[in-house]
Amino acid sequence: MVVCVCNAIRERDVREAARNGARSPGKAYEKLGCRLQCGQCVPFARSIISQERAIAC
Ligand code: FES
Repeated sequence: MVVCVCNAIRERDVREAARNGARSPGKAYEKLGCRLQCGQCVPFARSIISQERAIAC
């Protein structure tokens, strides 16, 4: 599933970035070589990151 349409970032990419230490959508996108643009994906990306962080703890 695509999380961020502007950057064509998929859910699994966001999960991987979160597992690699990204704590916010902006940081996750940086790790993927992108940057936040319109911001519509932020709530969804944030929830994916918190899920991954909860699993990691
Ligand atoms: S959908 Fe992610 S920045 Fe636009």
